[in-house]
Amino acid sequence: MKLTKQDFPIFAHHPDLVYLDSAATSLKPASVIAKNVEYYEQYSANIARGLYSLSEQATTEYEKTREMTAELINAKPEEIIFTRGTTESINLLSYSLESRLKEGDEILVTIAEHHSNFLPWQALALRTKATLKILELDADGQVNFEDIKRLITPRTKIFALTFVSNVLGTIHPVKDIISTAKAINPEILTIIDAAQAIAHLPIDVQNLNCDFLAFSSHKMFGPTGVGVLYGKLTLLEAMTPFQYGGEMVLEAKRKNSVFKNSPHKFEAGTPDIAGVIAFQEAIKYLQTLGYGTIRTHELDILNYASDKLQEAFGDAITLFGTKDISKRSGVIAFSLAGIHPHDIAQMLGEQNICIRAGQHCTTPLHDTLGLPATARLSVSMYTDRKDIAKFIEELKKIQGLFEK
Ligand code: ALA
Repeated sequence: MKLTKQDFPIFAHHPDLVYLDSAATSLKPASVIAKNVEYYEQYSANIARGLYSLSEQATTEYEKTREMTAELINAKPEEIIFTRGTTESINLLSYSLESRLKEGDEILVTIAEHHSNFLPWQALALRTKATLKILELDADGQVNFEDIKRLITPRTKIFALTFVSNVLGTIHPVKDIISTAKAINPEILTIIDAAQAIAHLPIDVQNLNCDFLAFSSHKMFGPTGVGVLYGKLTLLEAMTPFQYGGEMVLEAKRKNSVFKNSPHKFEAGTPDIAGVIAFQEAIKYLQTLGYGTIRTHELDILNYASDKLQEAFGDAITLFGTKDISKRSGVIAFSLAGIHPHDIAQMLGEQNICIRAGQHCTTPLHDTLGLPATARLSVSMYTDRKDIAKFIEELKKIQGLFEK
């Protein structure tokens, strides 16, 4: 197994750091940080505007990232739109697809969606008087295909679902879900929130046959403030822009304007140029590790964590989501009898152990499970068994303090 902790400068500043919050944001390798600095030091001009070599260099680097992103998910460069993050990618869709919906149409989401893939659709349903339908999950956090068949009708225009749940860790069988949905209603638009999947699982949009897919750079070793929206080109071409402004228009006239083709018509204003350019290095880093190695490592750590947590806490601990670790990715959400998740996270934080506690932006799911909050650990390539052992040792001490 390739050891990767030394690739991440943060560990040199915090040698004792146990970082178990990679689902919130991953740490950044030195190569990503260096590429960010390279732009600011060497060619920090605006893109697509300047007729001078610094601007040309910045534009070339920016477009190189687009090509690499397209290659990563088997798309065409024109199908890759850079946004500020998954949230903005999904909001873009919820506005640019609005004209396709009318009163009485339906939008389907699962109960486990992150607010980013729930609230934009709820708001769109309210704006258009469409109905927001919710697909419940079974006790294991999986979708039931019979429920999908029951819920999708000829009026269902949009089906938005997450690839991997940020709480339950469930890997949804997205390809089968999409083909099932399209067999019932070929007009349905499928939108995949891949924010929690992209750092862990290979994604091929042609193979999935999804219409749109969104993810964030910062969860896959890249900079914050950079997101990706993939869309099938024919759909993107038919969509109206989301924001209006500089460099997205071909002809701006007094009465009417003509917009550029995709992706440029969706990228108004100056983007996070440095972030997009540095994202190249994140893609390279991920590809050098390889999804196979990443998955093998992740399964080892998740199995180890799940076994050791149950060994250490027995009936006092509840782990949420399927017990079959091969069907999950990235996260383990848990609760420990008698201790509020916020107390756990805060006390671990005092020992330089970082986990997340709360509802993880999935209030509908927590309400359904009847949980005010959960604690969550999440892993990446730099997480090792020693991190998990230290976390459990400290958690045991916290439990001891509450028992006194
Ligand atoms: N969506 C991120 C998480 O689940 C922030 O932590």
